[in-house]
Amino acid sequence: MGKIVIKCGGSILDELTSEFFTGLKLLQEQGNQIIFVHGGGPDINQMLTMYEVEPEFYNGLRKTTEQTLEIAELVLSGRTNRKLVQKLTMHGFQAFGINGSDVGLLQAEYIDQDSLGFVGEIVSVNNKMITNFIQDGIVPVITPIAIHRSGQKLNVNADYAAAAVAQSIKADQCIFVTDVAGIMVNQQVVDSLEKTQVERLIEDGTIYGGMIPKVTSAMSALEKGLSSVMIVSGKATFFDGNGWKGTKIIGKE
Ligand SMILES: Nc1ncnc2c1ncn2[C@@H]1O[C@H](COP(=O)(O)OP(=O)(O)OP(=O)(O)O)[C@@H](O)[C@H]1O
Ligand SMILES: [Mg+2]
Repeated sequence: MGKIVIKCGGSILDELTSEFFTGLKLLQEQGNQIIFVHGGGPDINQMLTMYEVEPEFYNGLRKTTEQTLEIAELVLSGRTNRKLVQKLTMHGFQAFGINGSDVGLLQAEYIDQDSLGFVGEIVSVNNKMITNFIQDGIVPVITPIAIHRSGQKLNVNADYAAAAVAQSIKADQCIFVTDVAGIMVNQQVVDSLEKTQVERLIEDGTIYGGMIPKVTSAMSALEKGLSSVMIVSGKATFFDGNGWKGTKIIGKE
């Protein structure tokens, strides 16, 4: 029996397969408690296009103006969260959607207001709230909008949010579900990567864009005591009752 935080990428949400939910059911039947954090890149970009706002990224993080923040929350909370809760419900899970800014669930500080705008990094998680849900067999589905002590809402990269939640509730695993089967090196998925290898792959550009926040949040969570992080595909079987399929990030040097 363990606690598993699953970060579901916006890139894959519309394509989650029945194999994915079968794997999830297996995990639950084995006595694991499941917590979701979701992203929503494609949904946000689509809405920004409608508002004629150009998406801008810096090291894989979305630059967030006041307008972008409003659109991000509208989309993440009103559309993406609803979609995932609905899918889980259809597959027999009891799911409850919650915004990270509610009840101080995700508390954040600005990363660098000058270069990124309203983007935060999580400094504290109201894990009592999460514990209450999972003890009742409910799967919380968390939207990565956080709250600053001033009351300002901040956009948080969903990968960082998932790793912070995993760390805070002392989860046994953090799983990043995305649209690729793992980390690709020379067009092949690698089984596992250590910190120094990850750093080299970022430096030489093999790991880029949206994969950067996954590996960096994974490495910092591993250093702070999280035991296992994996990157898996939402299009295939990621867990077959025994083992996992994807790339494992290993904490030690
Ligand atoms: N070495 C790599 N191996 C595999 N994918 C990589 C690699 N480097 C960068 N990527 C990119 O990372 C992407 C996954 O990150 P991305 O941020 O796009 O999706 P996500 O995090 O699952 O969704 P969202 O950001 O909406 O939550 C892949 O689709 C791929 O384009
Ligand atoms: Mg991403």
